[in-house]
Amino acid sequence: MRKIAIAMAKGGVGKTTTAVNLAYGLSQIGHRVLLVDCDTQGQTSKFLGVSPKYGLYEFITGRDKNGEYVSKRDVIYPSRKNLWLLAGGIGLVELKNWLGEQPGDVRQTVLGNVLSPKKGTLDYLIFDCAPGWDVLSVNILMAVDEVLCPVALQGPSLEGLKTFFGYLLSAQKLNSDLQLKYILPTMFDQRTRQSFEILKQLKRMFKKQICDPIPYNVRLSEAPSHGKTIFEYRNKAVGADGYRKLIRRVDTDDI
Ligand SMILES: Nc1ncnc2c1ncn2[C@@H]1O[C@H](COP(=O)(O)OP(=O)(O)OP(=O)(O)O)[C@@H](O)[C@H]1O
Ligand SMILES: [Mg+2]
Repeated sequence: MRKIAIAMAKGGVGKTTTAVNLAYGLSQIGHRVLLVDCDTQGQTSKFLGVSPKYGLYEFITGRDKNGEYVSKRDVIYPSRKNLWLLAGGIGLVELKNWLGEQPGDVRQTVLGNVLSPKKGTLDYLIFDCAPGWDVLSVNILMAVDEVLCPVALQGPSLEGLKTFFGYLLSAQKLNSDLQLKYILPTMFDQRTRQSFEILKQLKRMFKKQICDPIPYNVRLSEAPSHGKTIFEYRNKAVGADGYRKLIRRVDTDDI
């Protein structure tokens, strides 16, 4: 089973768009995928057009908000064929408080310990991370082997990257399996020089990890309000082509 975090400290760079479309694409070619929304914004459910009753909070603590026992099976939401969701949302504020109260020696590894699917049940575990950095972010980086960083080809994105690499390095000291596997340039706008310039720098800095850029595509920004992935909303859009390339790249890599 591959465990991938879609992570970047900067907000609005395409993490959720990437997590949802990558997870869906992999599920459609026959892989069993669990997508985990680690953001209090709970956008992943919205992007998939579903409203699960429970989510990651209940999964980790084993309790609902009233303290009643909830089974893991009731918490994992089947959102599409082969694609299950552990929803995020405001309940994750409580989860972070709960994690903060755990003993120091296990606090950072709770997520990975609880979320350890039986061998052969899943092919991919994909985490949609929140922007910023907190106890849940650390838990995610302790639970995965691979990190995919979306970098927007707009604005001061390289600065955000530096901050994030600081976090990543500290996480690698605790999880030696953790590797920065993919740098995914997003929102590539061929009309702006800035897009080409940032892309050139990324290619120079990350020869191995760099992926083909995802174009800026208004269809990608419309799809979530329909509760659909880009493949369900506009399969022929250039944004869908971009994510198809990413899915192929991830799927053909064997770690
Ligand atoms: N390639 C793209 N072209 C056009 N719009 C995009 C593209 N990728 C994402 N968007 C839009 O940009 C906005 C931010 O994307 P998204 O929510 O995926 O970013 P994020 O990194 O998850 O944000 P946050 O840090 O708030 O969780 C959304 O409205 C999304 O629909
Ligand atoms: Mg997001």
